[in-house]
Amino acid sequence: MSELVKTLVKPILVAPSILAWNLGMLGDAVEIATRGRADMIHLDVIDGHFAPNITFGAGTVKALRKVSTLTFDTHLMISEPLRYVDRFIEAGSDVLTFHAEVLDPKKFDELYAKIKGAGRQMGLALKPQTELPKWAADRLGSLSTIIVMTVNPGFSGQTMDMSVMPKLERIGRLVEDKGYVTNVEIDGGVEPENVGEVVRRGGNVLVAGAGVYAKRDPVAAIGELRARAAAARAGA
Ligand code: DX5
Ligand code: ZN
Repeated sequence: MSELVKTLVKPILVAPSILAWNLGMLGDAVEIATRGRADMIHLDVIDGHFAPNITFGAGTVKALRKVSTLTFDTHLMISEPLRYVDRFIEAGSDVLTFHAEVLDPKKFDELYAKIKGAGRQMGLALKPQTELPKWAADRLGSLSTIIVMTVNPGFSGQTMDMSVMPKLERIGRLVEDKGYVTNVEIDGGVEPENVGEVVRRGGNVLVAGAGVYAKRDPVAAIGELRARAAAARAGA
């Protein structure tokens, strides 16, 4: 029995957030992530309205698509995601994640059908203070990803808000109890020192901006995050 349970545990995935690199050299950030054997590239699209920063859009995603075959995990921190979803599909985003705070639940089914119809995956994201709404909990099993943000959206390099941990644990347990394939992704302030806690609380995808790109050796930093997560899983 314990062996069976072990095989069902989701893999730890590392998703470097290239927002933390020099924005004029994003191709290099992708190349570093590839060398570090990252599982995904986390792309933070921010419109200066949903959150107080402007980053990049579908044009940049499309340009990066030409230099990488890694999964593009696109975190849409924009107020009107439905206006732009086609462009991100066309640009080559693999996972399109929408914030629950701005997504109209009445539009969910249509949006989901569009994304799945294009052969992509859909995710939902929650700001630190946002609880998982019932409409989202009811649909969690059809999502590839739930992003639990541990900083307020906007900038890389902030400190993880540990007050989010009980919510992370609730969501992690819900996903596990229901047997959903949904990845529980932690975004904000992920560092080697806190991945153990994150994994013990039920997170399995580690987004890391500064936790990778602000390190002296970003390639090694990806391996370090993975090793710390594995150690936490093993009970070390
Ligand atoms: C914040 C973004 C995060 C951020 C992560 O708005 O969603 O993905 O870039 O960067 P760190 O890991 O430095 O907090
Ligand atoms: Zn993000």
